[in-house]
Amino acid sequence: MNPTLSGTLYQQLADELAAAIKRGTLPSGAKLPSVRRSAQNYQLSLNTVLAAYRLLEDQGLIQARPQSGYYVRSRLPAPVAQVVDHDQQATPTQPVVLDLISTVLATQQQQDFIDLALACPRGTDFYPSHKLARLMGQILRRQPDMISTYALPPGSLKLRTQIARRGLDLGMNLQAQDIILTHGCMEAIQLALRAVTRPGDSAGIESPTYFNLLPMLASLGLNTVAIPTDPNTGLSLDAVEVLLAEKHIQALIAMPTIHNPLGCTIPLAAKQRLARLMTQYQVPLIEDAIYAELQYGDSLAPAVKAFDEDGWVMICSSYSKTLAPDFRLGWLQAGRFANTVRKLKFSSSGAEPMVLAETVGAFLETGGYDHHLRTLNRHYASQVDQVRGLIARHFPAGTCATVPVGGFLIWVELPEPLKAIELFHAALAEKISIMPGSLCSPDGRYSNALRLSCCYPLNEHYQYALMRVGQLASTLLSHSQQAK
Ligand SMILES: Cc1ncc(COP(=O)(O)O)c(C=O)c1O
Repeated sequence: MNPTLSGTLYQQLADELAAAIKRGTLPSGAKLPSVRRSAQNYQLSLNTVLAAYRLLEDQGLIQARPQSGYYVRSRLPAPVAQVVDHDQQATPTQPVVLDLISTVLATQQQQDFIDLALACPRGTDFYPSHKLARLMGQILRRQPDMISTYALPPGSLKLRTQIARRGLDLGMNLQAQDIILTHGCMEAIQLALRAVTRPGDSAGIESPTYFNLLPMLASLGLNTVAIPTDPNTGLSLDAVEVLLAEKHIQALIAMPTIHNPLGCTIPLAAKQRLARLMTQYQVPLIEDAIYAELQYGDSLAPAVKAFDEDGWVMICSSYSKTLAPDFRLGWLQAGRFANTVRKLKFSSSGAEPMVLAETVGAFLETGGYDHHLRTLNRHYASQVDQVRGLIARHFPAGTCATVPVGGFLIWVELPEPLKAIELFHAALAEKISIMPGSLCSPDGRYSNALRLSCCYPLNEHYQYALMRVGQLASTLLSHSQQAK
């Protein structure tokens, strides 16, 4: 660096680094030298280097990762919104989608596969397993009879009390007696659907959506009506309003807070409008809030349920993504349909194991859940950012990826005419599992998209697998361009 040049020293350093980033000498995701190392290299003070790094941060070129250092921000473009089609038809779920789902799930059981597809974090990196094990041990030592007693719905009062208390963080005023514990979030959604629909009815569903909702709707004999969902602003409320006004749907399932797979949250005003629309047209909203506590921001955006004045919102969630997937502990507050759901729950699966529910209840009471969530959210935000950087580095030019505001999923759109299903099969042959976008599609769209999970340790296996998928995408893309 030339101190005789005009501009302050920190600006000169920032300019030099910015030029290196633009040239690609410092690629997306690359780690900058530590402040101390740069100070030695450039013979500058620590404060000067720090000021330069902060300037680059303000310019959106680099990002600080807690306890790790400064990294070049990914310059991957975000996907653009689809054209909103208000004239969506009700359709049954396509069998080909159901078969593909089975193939992806089968890879999860195989040790030698690298999974980039499923939203199933594993291990103590993401879950407080040791603390939960200690709590469960204490509970069983004190009350060994718990395992020889049938639990009955609605399940552990301790846990329901904690769920109600935690509901305040999402703006909801829930009462413990209105909460029904379920076998994961899936059972909560299924019970809600069974309470409000009959076979042959139609459910409005986001497009793209959580893939497992499609087989569930099919098994209940329900048709789906796909609703356009913007990668940044989520569900199209104009489309919802048309469907409600024309009585095309008997229920709506949506993930307004941290959508799977888009990672977006609908704006606050849209949440208020959605709650109003459901009340006005008297159609239930099944709000899937499983990722609602995995928001990266300092404060939590409220749930749509927070604005529900007349019980038309049925909110469903679970602790599968935050505490213990194996416990299968979910819950539901079914609003005006609570009595119907209560009866369905007992005939569906009895009650959830008391020892598991009491363990989670105790953790929520005294185990440091807030601290755990803060750490988890920082961890996922950093993983998502690193994976976006790897995508920018290894995938073909023209690839776009969402910028999630929570959770651990990234929706990737590949340049046309590349087909994600071909990439899926090519990756499968190398024992890498990715999720083609068509699995998340209730309306046959997203042949060029895929969903990637950032909920596994980003070790050399993960990084190699992602690099290979990018290389395979480049090869397939050039083949399909030549064939045109
Ligand atoms: C959006 C969404 N809803 C529901 C579920 C199912 O949750 P659970 O495992 O608690 O049944 C998942 C799991 O991946 C999900 O991503």
